[in-house]
Amino acid sequence: MKKRVVLAYSGGLDTSVAVAYLSHEFDMEVIAVAVDVGQNDDFESMRQRAIDSGAVEAVVVDYKNEYSDKYLTRALKSNALYENRYPLVSSLSRPAIVKVLVEQAEKFNATGIAHGCTGKGNDQVRFEVSIRALAPHFEIYAPTRDWNMTREESIDYAQSKGVTVPITKDKLYSIDENIWGRAIECGILEDPWNRPPDDIWSMTRVTQNEPTETVISFESGVPVALDDKKMSFLQIISELNSLVGSYGFGRIDMVENRRVGIKSRETYEAPGALALIQAHRDLEGVTLERNLAHEKITIEPKIAELIYDGLWFSPLMEAYGQFIDSSQKYVTGDVRIQLAPYSCSINGRKSPYSLYDYNLATYDATDSFNHSDAEGFVKLWGLGISTWAQKQKGV
Ligand code: ARG
Repeated sequence: MKKRVVLAYSGGLDTSVAVAYLSHEFDMEVIAVAVDVGQNDDFESMRQRAIDSGAVEAVVVDYKNEYSDKYLTRALKSNALYENRYPLVSSLSRPAIVKVLVEQAEKFNATGIAHGCTGKGNDQVRFEVSIRALAPHFEIYAPTRDWNMTREESIDYAQSKGVTVPITKDKLYSIDENIWGRAIECGILEDPWNRPPDDIWSMTRVTQNEPTETVISFESGVPVALDDKKMSFLQIISELNSLVGSYGFGRIDMVENRRVGIKSRETYEAPGALALIQAHRDLEGVTLERNLAHEKITIEPKIAELIYDGLWFSPLMEAYGQFIDSSQKYVTGDVRIQLAPYSCSINGRKSPYSLYDYNLATYDATDSFNHSDAEGFVKLWGLGISTWAQKQKGV
């Protein structure tokens, strides 16, 4: 009996070649599983392409809501930005995809799970570590990595097996997309000095020039409404992707440190994600107590790094997750964001749990702050410094 394997299928070059490779060179039954995490694809023709490439079965699983509610909420509550810039578009989708792959592998009685990642990237790490965390009994196959073909050779191999690939040799970007944003790499972008060509951007193009304001409402750290209209988190992200994107805001061009030790030039567009993180952070400004806010800021980059490094399913992530959830109890309220060409800024914020006290903050007559308390406080705060200045400084 042939071995049966579930393959994470995207319809792109690498995974189409992987279907052909696993069926022809490994003599396996390939079940292609495409997980819809909000990439704008034609899933019906993708399914057909998988079958044409040699898959015995091809399934599409709509996982957009689970992805938003279980993965992206945590990223947003954590203001997760890798190296302080990248909202972890691809990094977040991989553990979600693996969750679906494991379910499908069990359903189809497969003995292995395959992915189409190369050996130089982060995604192989995320797929394999997540599989080992969730279902260590499955064998793991990485045909694209094993074969190590150039992209041109892959195209030739695909064509020799009658596999149609949606890519030509002169336009060699590698694009990964989901509801949280879009990553574009390879081709002319591999020289970090080259300006990203205009044609790489699809979510962030200026079609609006009149500035506008929109209000995002949060409940316990999660967006629940836009301009008072209640919506699912998924709907809010997608509305914001088109609105914020139409002002051209949300582009990132950076050289980042991959987990495998390579520096890599990456371009991203994540209009909704970046606007949401900005608004969420701002709301935390009025709702988080000072020590909690400062502690949270120290762990946010660690959470981003865990996500980037493929450790979504890990005990440290679980523990951080509980800290984050607990920190969000009162992160409820509204943020006014202002959009203009290539910019997104904050106009105002309010919360029923706001710790901002007008009468304490004001310099006008309603001031309720006890000024005489300050004198003694400042003296004691600086007591150690005064002592040091007298006894040691300049000695
Ligand atoms: N560098 C990003 C990351 O590691 C994006 C990876 C995009 N993957 C792709 N196949 N284009 O998260």
